[in-house]
Amino acid sequence: MIHFDDHLGLYRALAGVGSLTAGELTTATGLQECWVLEWLRGQATAGLLGYDDNDRFELYSCTAAVLADEEHSLVFAVGAFGVPLESDVTDDGLAEAFRSGVGLPYDRLSPNAIHRSERMLGPWARLPLVPHIIPTLEGVEPKLEAGARVVDVACGAGVVLLAMAVAYPASGLYRFDPSEHAISRVRERINEAGITNVTLHQASAEDLSPEVPFDLVMTFDCIHDMTHQADAIAAIGVALTDDGTWLVKDIRSAPRFVDNLANPVLAMLYRFSVATCMLSGLSEPGGAGVGTLGIHPLTAEEMSRAVGFTCFRIHDFEDLANLYYEVRP
Ligand SMILES: C[S@@+](CC[C@H](N)C(=O)[O-])C[C@H]1O[C@@H](n2cnc3c(N)ncnc32)[C@H](O)[C@@H]1O
Repeated sequence: MIHFDDHLGLYRALAGVGSLTAGELTTATGLQECWVLEWLRGQATAGLLGYDDNDRFELYSCTAAVLADEEHSLVFAVGAFGVPLESDVTDDGLAEAFRSGVGLPYDRLSPNAIHRSERMLGPWARLPLVPHIIPTLEGVEPKLEAGARVVDVACGAGVVLLAMAVAYPASGLYRFDPSEHAISRVRERINEAGITNVTLHQASAEDLSPEVPFDLVMTFDCIHDMTHQADAIAAIGVALTDDGTWLVKDIRSAPRFVDNLANPVLAMLYRFSVATCMLSGLSEPGGAGVGTLGIHPLTAEEMSRAVGFTCFRIHDFEDLANLYYEVRP
């Protein structure tokens, strides 16, 4: 229900407006009252809304922070409540992957997987990126302001891509992602926002071979999803200018399982690992399949140095789930 209500915008319609009757919420949303009333009662029963004797319902402030406040990083939770995998994926794909070892590419999951990454990963990246993260990278912000070439590899629904395109209108933004579902969602968002400085390529990171090199390559939450990570990282190295920057966001993790147990969202990360990241990373025979937590700082540094990067800096922005790496030739 949370996933569905997020689609309809019901939590957002309730946020910050005090208590409403079903009729008032119906007017505000243009939906049908009989459905809205049933939904409100279910949400009140689940403890997500307050309810009084006058049939008025109110979104609690803590519920709003988690499900409706787009400027609060806790809103990632709305994506975490995405719909379960479709039965053909679990029965034929995932179960078979446990037997054969070979998983499924992103596009064998429904567009819901892209929606989930948009709503869950989006806030984690979008909120701190322009105000906090870009300014800490050596020499990057002035280049972006003056007009740089930037590629968001594996951009999913394009949350980061669009945030960068809006913040740095003089720069050209490029997108490389093999997913058809992802590209159509990005296209939709670009058209809605009227953005003109973005070019879309439906291709894998391994195929990144621009005629003109990039000043900034971003890989957010995706190296662990790739089947051939070493090839992708080598291609990134070739695609960068001599003084370019590769910005990596990957899941905060340590090499030993036991050292990750204090992470309050660890169980959720393992759920995504089995159902998405391992599936993708093993979608070809011989795929890396390191799992959601597989790119910890030691691995990231080792893989970067192996293809000739000489500078590797870890940035901890106190994000519950992620670390950032600034990598340069
Ligand atoms: C978890 S999503 C990350 C989306 C986005 N970067 C974000 O942070 O919201 C992973 C993405 O990696 C893409 N992907 C998987 N293998 C890839 C590859 N070899 N090259 C480029 N993208 C790839 C998938 O299509 C998917 O869109």
